[in-house]
Amino acid sequence: MQLAGGYLFMSASTAEPMNDDDVLEQRVDALLEQMTLAEKIGQMAQVNVGDSYIHDYLADGLRGGRVGSVLNVVDVEVVNELQRIAVEESRLGIPLIVGRDVIHGFKTIMPIPLGQAATWNPDVVREGAHVAALEASTAGVNWTFTPMIDISRDARWGRIAESLGEDPHLASILGVAMVEGFQGDELSAIGTIAACAKHFAGYGAAESGRDYATTNIPENELRNVYLRPFKAAVDAGVTTLMTSFSDLDGVPATGNEFLVNDILRGEWGFDGFVVSDWDSVRQLSIHGLTANDRESAFLAAKAGVDMEMHGDAYTNHLASLIEDGKVDEAVVDTAAANILRAKFRLGLFENPYTDPGLLPPIASKHALQTARQCALQSVVLLKNDHHVLPLNIDKLNSIAVLGPLADAPYEQLGTWIFDGDQNLSITPMHGIHSLVGDKVDVRYLRTMDNSRSRSTDAFDEAVAIASETDAVVLFLGEEAILSGEAHSRADISLPGAQAELVRRIRETGKPVVAVILAGRPLTLTNIVDDVDAILFAWHPGTMGGPAIADLLFGVESPSGKLPATFPKMVGQIPIYYNQKNTGKPPTPDTIAHIDEIDAHAPQLSLGMTAFHLDAGYLPLFPFGHGLSYAYFDYRNLTLSASEIGLGESLTVSVDITNTGRMAADEVVQLYVRDLVGNVTRPVKELKGFKRVHIEPGEKVTVDFELHTDDLAFYGRRMQLMTEPGEFHVWVGGSSDTDLRAEFRIVASD
Ligand code: BGC
Repeated sequence: MQLAGGYLFMSASTAEPMNDDDVLEQRVDALLEQMTLAEKIGQMAQVNVGDSYIHDYLADGLRGGRVGSVLNVVDVEVVNELQRIAVEESRLGIPLIVGRDVIHGFKTIMPIPLGQAATWNPDVVREGAHVAALEASTAGVNWTFTPMIDISRDARWGRIAESLGEDPHLASILGVAMVEGFQGDELSAIGTIAACAKHFAGYGAAESGRDYATTNIPENELRNVYLRPFKAAVDAGVTTLMTSFSDLDGVPATGNEFLVNDILRGEWGFDGFVVSDWDSVRQLSIHGLTANDRESAFLAAKAGVDMEMHGDAYTNHLASLIEDGKVDEAVVDTAAANILRAKFRLGLFENPYTDPGLLPPIASKHALQTARQCALQSVVLLKNDHHVLPLNIDKLNSIAVLGPLADAPYEQLGTWIFDGDQNLSITPMHGIHSLVGDKVDVRYLRTMDNSRSRSTDAFDEAVAIASETDAVVLFLGEEAILSGEAHSRADISLPGAQAELVRRIRETGKPVVAVILAGRPLTLTNIVDDVDAILFAWHPGTMGGPAIADLLFGVESPSGKLPATFPKMVGQIPIYYNQKNTGKPPTPDTIAHIDEIDAHAPQLSLGMTAFHLDAGYLPLFPFGHGLSYAYFDYRNLTLSASEIGLGESLTVSVDITNTGRMAADEVVQLYVRDLVGNVTRPVKELKGFKRVHIEPGEKVTVDFELHTDDLAFYGRRMQLMTEPGEFHVWVGGSSDTDLRAEFRIVASD
């Protein structure tokens, strides 16, 4: 059997390095030339395997060159056998690209992506992805459908858990870190896998946060907000992109030529391949964009979607569409070439098989350490009245540990953990026990079967335990199943009887700490005043328990910062920090509260600004917020210049002193406002951030370079530009910082 034509260029004596673009293109072209139309269309088909059984239909498809990719098979022997059939029994021997949703870990689970975003630490995020790639590689997986870089400003949306939050800059930096972690420096190396930036584009803007719902995003907003992380991922060399399920301004993404062909390929020069989402080609007709699968295949192929995930519209209709002259064969050539290019880059032609023995063991010490470090840095201290945290191990005799999520090994892993192993989970309950040993008496009661339970049967017993102990730690939140795909909520407060539990425990008069595990920002308004401290831990993954224990007892200080705004009430959504100013911006003096309105007051006395009568205009906790056991004093915000020309940079510096007693990390954030724009600009935009470690009493100076290109935005005619004018710049530990300076950009001569 003659293996794929690529070998013509890679015999031992003539081998060129794989990163040589010309050689790569020659290999792609040479192989393409040998392929029949059916074989090219075969590359565009991705088949769901789903179990370990290779049915005849699949095997025949592989032999006949009718399958380019499989997904959802993680038994390495089965994967190797599939590869063997493809490589040794098909005419051209083209290997398979093997996809799987390795979203935040394979067996060792990192915090959910939204939790990872709360670390504001690209290094730990990159390492988490690298660990996931190593573990997934042992199963023969060579392609993950990650990172999900959909901007979301709506915590009702269940998939916000999988996202990197509301801000395009943060999502760009961390999305790129994930791509780097999965793909490494050399995609063909053992233990690196192809990444997939998804969902292109706009999916996170689903109306009312209802998954799969329509999105309406004006082009200017699309470019300035939603597309930015995708552009960054493409620039970083992401191998693939996935189109979104959603309808974007009337044209569902999978049939959207403007998005895929014009922007992604035309403007950005993307040379990887684009995969549809699960059956989203055929769903074009369900959307009502097409009348049948044939039209769907036509539109998706024309839009530039190279591979169809689990669907047969391409398989059944592309050939006849070409025969009938509806689709140019060049479309199929390009798609097949894009897919082959990725396979060559992955080194699959040289090395299609997996030997798990060449990879580190699952759940290695390094993997678990990475998961623990990531969890530790992801937890956000939302409030800490009277310094109730950290708990003092030497002063407490006993603590009550209550709540449905203290000892729930599966739930702490969060959504999208197809392969995650809950037996590896160390729960907070175990973390606390092993930290305090016999120094503190830990009294545990689950109290509720799950977070949704409305039963209060065990509350009396919980109150009795709380009354007999020195402090109470309540583990509240949502189980894994309450977030993720198709798991949106309209009410995002603590479900079930949890708020009632908080009230009952509050009545004991004991110090109360809430540790909240959840897949999204929650509205905590109805419990926030009834607890002394809140640690928001997201779904923290395999090593969540020890990380939370370290934070509760002050072995480490919390250092996470919110990657998404926490609303007071659902009715404030969408609420996000980088909003527009409006023509009537609210201030504390211009708002009124519904309970304080004088019934006889004239309408105009209410301030006439952009606020809600029952919620004001501020969130419960802003983007970037996160407290520490240390205190950080920000001073001396200085700019290296008060005026710069277009194309120049300035340095923004600030001194930060840790005036507390504990060493801690702080995430220093830089925000900018462009005061006057060709289109209106947000009131604040994140432009830089740095995580720094500061010892007690130590002062550090943090510098940021700000180039005028960093201030570029798409204007009225969708041109990318930086405009001369006035800018405000803020530095601080949250988006609501008021430490501000000003500068001006002047037109160059
Ligand atoms: C999701 C994708 C995922 C795919 C494959 C779809 O339902 O939207 O994000 O990668 O399934 O499992």
